[in-house]
Amino acid sequence: MWKKIFGSADAYKEIPKRDDPLFAPIEWEKLPRHVAVIMDGNGRWAKGQGLIRTAGHKAGVKTLKGILSTAIGLGLDALTVYAFSTENWKRPTTEVDFLMKLFAEYLEKELQEMHDDNVRIRFLGKKEGMPKSLQRQMSDAERLMANNTGIHFNVAANYGGQDELLRVMQRVAAQAAAGSLKQEEVDAELVESLLDTAGDPPVDLMIRTSGDQRLSNFLLWQSAYAEFYFTDKNWPEFTPADFVAAMTDFAHRDRRFGGLNKK
Ligand code: FPP
Repeated sequence: MWKKIFGSADAYKEIPKRDDPLFAPIEWEKLPRHVAVIMDGNGRWAKGQGLIRTAGHKAGVKTLKGILSTAIGLGLDALTVYAFSTENWKRPTTEVDFLMKLFAEYLEKELQEMHDDNVRIRFLGKKEGMPKSLQRQMSDAERLMANNTGIHFNVAANYGGQDELLRVMQRVAAQAAAGSLKQEEVDAELVESLLDTAGDPPVDLMIRTSGDQRLSNFLLWQSAYAEFYFTDKNWPEFTPADFVAAMTDFAHRDRRFGGLNKK
């Protein structure tokens, strides 16, 4: 993957190995298992470069490729990225259409390489709202990589955290109405099994680029005890070294999960 992003003259030609200088600051025993990323600031970056907004999204794809490779190199269990929210439909049609085409192109170009890298891709959110041909591509990609044992790469597309929880509640209500579920059987384990991220560990670290400090309806249940990492950098300028910096910052957080420090 590295070869494609940086060209043959660059240091990283493939997924970085553990002894790569990029990973020198990493405390391996203190890595998060599941990292989520709000890839914000594509439009602002483009504007700053005197480009149209969509050029920012295109540059954002490049960033994503580098971050996925880095996450694989680190051995993370799961990487979840916010590609398109249920609220993003409010954007101008030209931008929405561009993003849909970009997702399709990304899947077409990157699918085989991700599969070779043992990535298991999954789409969070409602496929139904996406263009028909893209829906097919998404399902085909999920099917192709379903048995891969590497990183769980979740792409949230037409996703909203509240929408996800409503869908869970509807399924719970339907099962209860059918008599197959008792009130006391509704617990955290059941809810988690019905989330789009079923089977993944909870989010340990939530990264948001471009200076805004909010969750924007992303992974509401899964982020209950997530640590937050904010950077002013816009997504297109966020580098693998910045991702590593987020990991080292995480390594020094004091996570108590509502309990007391054992020190
Ligand atoms: C937020 O920036 C970004 C998005 C709504 C789209 C994210 C999509 C990508 C990074 C493309 C790559 C994704 C895949 C899965 C191929 P913004 O447009 O809100 O930026 P702004 O806040 O500066 O306007």
